[in-house]
Amino acid sequence: MKKQRTEDLKGEDFRKKIEAEEEAIAKRMGVVKHKLLVISGKGGVGKTTVAANLAIALANKGYKVGLMDVDLHGPNVPKMLGIEDEHLSIDPTANEIIPILVPPGLKVMSVGFLISTKDSPIIWRGPLKMKAINQFISQVKWGNLDYFIVDCPPGTGDEPLSTAQLFPLDGTIVVTTPQEVALLDSRKAVNFARELKVPIIGIIENMSGFTCPYCGKEIDLFKVGGGERSAKEMGVPFLGRIPFDPKMVDASDKGTPFVLQKRSKAIEAFEGITEKIRLFVEGERRKG
Ligand SMILES: Nc1ncnc2c1ncn2[C@@H]1O[C@H](COP(=O)(O)OP(=O)(O)OP(=O)(O)O)[C@@H](O)[C@H]1O
Ligand SMILES: [Mg+2]
Repeated sequence: MKKQRTEDLKGEDFRKKIEAEEEAIAKRMGVVKHKLLVISGKGGVGKTTVAANLAIALANKGYKVGLMDVDLHGPNVPKMLGIEDEHLSIDPTANEIIPILVPPGLKVMSVGFLISTKDSPIIWRGPLKMKAINQFISQVKWGNLDYFIVDCPPGTGDEPLSTAQLFPLDGTIVVTTPQEVALLDSRKAVNFARELKVPIIGIIENMSGFTCPYCGKEIDLFKVGGGERSAKEMGVPFLGRIPFDPKMVDASDKGTPFVLQKRSKAIEAFEGITEKIRLFVEGERRKG
């Protein structure tokens, strides 16, 4: 009898804790205008590049932006933004985690800030991932934001699923490269978003074509045009192509976002994509 009562109390405590967390998430996300998820079917296609540069591009336009890295096994956002040596601090008055600030208006949260040695893996079990993502939202002082961008690991696993279940998303951006294997996987990503009932903002075809720096000839490294064809077939918008640009590799290795570099075809392409995303979500909001 006594044991049963203790268990009931434990159950009651647990329920209360979950309810408090749900309330905290609803409160935090209630003051964020547009919430976006960046996904792909396949790894290494440029999600983090897109998420980080989109966040910087929007912040540079004067928007208040949050970037949450839910790639718990391979958190690359801190490295790409040159903030990997930053440490999180706690606001003791409200017991909140203060995200890392990147001027002019970007707040970043990543498990990368919690790892002391960069080469050590963190072993995550499914439920722990959910818990971590929960805390990344409920306990982080995001404040009022115009955009909240979530960078996911590749595929359709726990991380995007958990995120989509925690709060309503305004849209998802699918990144792909143009070769068949990537396209096949990007279709899965589109269907995943459909199943979750998250609007699909569109597909980005990254690493699409390459201009030889010596002879100026266009070379189709991973073919070209597949992302656009795939978007058409799936009936979702095509957001644009970003060419392969070796300076982008350099930019992410050095932690200097490529959108802030000297003008290039890739930057122009990215600006066009940013504008399409902006129009999609801001248009959606007006309609709603
Ligand atoms: N258009 C591009 N031109 C040249 N290099 C690029 C381009 N887009 C991304 N890269 C480079 O490709 C690598 C992989 O990109 P990124 O980390 O953004 O992919 P990802 O999809 O996030 O990978 P993961 O699935 O591991 O999370 C990085 O070194 C990045 O700098
Ligand atoms: Mg990534």
